[in-house]
Amino acid sequence: MIKILLVHGPNLGLLGKRETNIYGNETQEDLLQRVKRECPTAKYEVELVQSNHEGNVLDVLNQIVRDHYAGNTPVGGILINPGAWTHTSVALRDALAMVRDTGIPVIEIHLSNTAAREDFRHASMVAPVVTGGVVGLGAAGYTAAARALVELIQRNSKPRN
Ligand code: DQA
Repeated sequence: MIKILLVHGPNLGLLGKRETNIYGNETQEDLLQRVKRECPTAKYEVELVQSNHEGNVLDVLNQIVRDHYAGNTPVGGILINPGAWTHTSVALRDALAMVRDTGIPVIEIHLSNTAAREDFRHASMVAPVVTGGVVGLGAAGYTAAARALVELIQRNSKPRN
């Protein structure tokens, strides 16, 4: 089984109730189901990690890196909406840079179009160290990101010659 992690940063546990004019009506569970729909159950297991505590997310990412170097890579890819940490966290960026070096694909997702919002949301600390991003497509962005991630994982696992 290949594990796919959906990582949600602060305040995303309240999606569906939180500023629905910006973030829409779908709950975190709805978004998880969208991801699961794109990941064939015979091959993939999708796990949601949501935390309001940055250290918890760093611990999860550190463990993925540790497992990788121990020759054990259960996680094939990561979808991450880091919420406000996107704009603030050097620590998250550094953790994701380590994940990048393992070759595990990481897709950054934002429900809202951060480029069209307040200036402080324009910069992403993590964008330079992830594989790519889906921004501003609302819940549909989760479907698109999951589909892309499965393709990236399949490409990674194809033998090269
Ligand atoms: C967000 C955008 C961030 O600026 C904000 O802090 C969030 C949600 C989005 O999905 O649009 O918490 O990541």
